[in-house]
Amino acid sequence: MSKINHMNRIPRAKGIDMAAFYTPKECRRKAQHIVFSAENERIINEFITILGMKERFREHDVSIPNKMVMFGPPGTGKTLTASHLAERLDLPLVLVRLDAIIHSHLGETGSNVRKLFEYARMNPCVLFLDEFDAIGRTRESNDEVKEMARVVNTLLQCLDEFDGDSILVAATNLETQLDHAIWRRFDTKMTYGMPDDASRRLYISKLVGAFEQENRLEDYICERLTGCSYADIEQIVLKAKRKAIIASSALHKQLISDAYDEYRPRVLEC
Ligand SMILES: Nc1ncnc2c1ncn2[C@@H]1O[C@H](COP(=O)(O)OP(=O)(O)O)[C@@H](O)[C@H]1O
Ligand SMILES: [Mg+2]
Repeated sequence: MSKINHMNRIPRAKGIDMAAFYTPKECRRKAQHIVFSAENERIINEFITILGMKERFREHDVSIPNKMVMFGPPGTGKTLTASHLAERLDLPLVLVRLDAIIHSHLGETGSNVRKLFEYARMNPCVLFLDEFDAIGRTRESNDEVKEMARVVNTLLQCLDEFDGDSILVAATNLETQLDHAIWRRFDTKMTYGMPDDASRRLYISKLVGAFEQENRLEDYICERLTGCSYADIEQIVLKAKRKAIIASSALHKQLISDAYDEYRPRVLEC
């Protein structure tokens, strides 16, 4: 039923057109500048270490983790983490937005969810379910509430039966909206947040890279972009670099300041 796509050698299955596929190599390119909090880095490393010691775990009859859920505000690295995992595990990334498969046609959501899990059972991959909270979101009409309850049950069943060499990763902005029964089926949980000073500094230096800059500019950027998400920081630094290229100049404070004003990030009070 599945056929090999010779471009990137990821088997594709009929009926899961809602998924996007990425090779480990593509994932590496995407996730090359990822910055983790110390705690998340520890969790990821432990997760990967365990997967590399499967035999030992089998000998001790201790189950191996394979379901990770991440929650936190947008632009803090959840999707990027899925790419990072795929790269490190040398598995393809299969990315699906749950809100999209639900919105397209609620009545088919259950069977689409089953197809995804069936695909992951047959083809080792990192199956990434983004916008995961969409699954439990309450519906307007009674019929839709009932249908959604059926979808949740299907998902619970799929989660319970999930084994083999694939890894399931789910991401949500809203921890509290996730059905408790679903929540507790994940063996690994990671919390994402806005970068602290040290992480912001590290990310900015990765983004500026070898680009010519005014003296001590990174200190200024770090201060100016306090409260911004990683995604905002990336967009602002990129914008400032573009301005520098147009003006054939080095990066300097005014360009950062102009880029910030044009981009207008939504900065949360910390
Ligand atoms: N922790 C991070 N480290 C490095 N870059 C990040 C990080 N978080 C976000 N970014 C940048 O912002 C973009 C969007 O991040 P993403 O992982 O999609 O956020 P989320 O899934 O949490 O909304 C990424 O492609 C990357 O360029
Ligand atoms: Mg995301």
